[in-house]
Amino acid sequence: MLASFNQDIVSFVLRELSNIFSLHFERLKREQGFSCMFRDHPGALIRVLNALIIKETSFSFSSSFTNSSKYNMGEELKQDIDWEEKWQSGNTFWDAGEPSPALTELIQNEETKKLIPEHGRGLVPGCGSGYDVVFLATKTRHMTGMDFSQTCVDKLLKDHPNAAAKNYDFVCDDFYKFTAPEEGYVLAYDYTFLCAMEPYMRPAWAKKYSEIIHKDGVLITLMFPIDGHEGGPPFAVTQELYYELLSDNFDLVFIKDAIGHPSRIGKEKIAIWKRK
Ligand SMILES: C[S@@+](CC[C@H](N)C(=O)[O-])C[C@H]1O[C@@H](n2cnc3c(N)ncnc32)[C@H](O)[C@@H]1O
Repeated sequence: MLASFNQDIVSFVLRELSNIFSLHFERLKREQGFSCMFRDHPGALIRVLNALIIKETSFSFSSSFTNSSKYNMGEELKQDIDWEEKWQSGNTFWDAGEPSPALTELIQNEETKKLIPEHGRGLVPGCGSGYDVVFLATKTRHMTGMDFSQTCVDKLLKDHPNAAAKNYDFVCDDFYKFTAPEEGYVLAYDYTFLCAMEPYMRPAWAKKYSEIIHKDGVLITLMFPIDGHEGGPPFAVTQELYYELLSDNFDLVFIKDAIGHPSRIGKEKIAIWKRK
């Protein structure tokens, strides 16, 4: 059986692995020319699979793959991180108190602002304290901030009694399960949301954006943290990871190193993706 391993099988297994163990996948990819190595030495692939499985999970080999398929089916997604508890206990360590300077620069810069739709509906999933929602709303662009945590959204509603007049609102819902308005969104902004997800949720994250952003609509991703650390949240990301997740349905139309919150400089890139 080992002798019959070919490049397709290796690619398939690595793609599955990337959904489950994306941090290790990215690290392996950087450190070794692994696909050639595995093609020529399939036994090495088995050893790496075993090592990753033993290291990362107590599931058996087959149940890991079952879980991977399950998570692609959206409706069975279950998040293990208790965000409501974090909001209730005030453990909102990620909250930077204002929109990222990288986002404000993107919206104000002459070259990039014309890439961002000015009319229609926009969404900020996992909006937390909602700074980005307030910043992105204009007279012609309605913004919705969505968060999973009822405590978070209750606070938003209390702190923003005049939201409707300023063309934004806040809803408590699950990004993976909510029903988008029929016309879809022209804009979504993702910051510290992908990194808040357990890595197995990443394919569902990408799928949902492809469903809710209509053709020629735009997804802005402020990619963070690009630092290769282990564990999370926040779970480390890479530019390549976003490309792998989004490029089937989105064209990358802009990307650069982000000058955002001072403590995050060197760990962020900001990108604009246009729905195909
Ligand atoms: C790390 S915080 C980031 C908050 C905000 N984007 C910021 O930069 O301050 C992630 C937020 O996503 C919310 N969240 C987690 N899973 C969610 C889901 N499935 N749908 C909507 N919000 C979710 C959490 O409650 C939390 O407020």
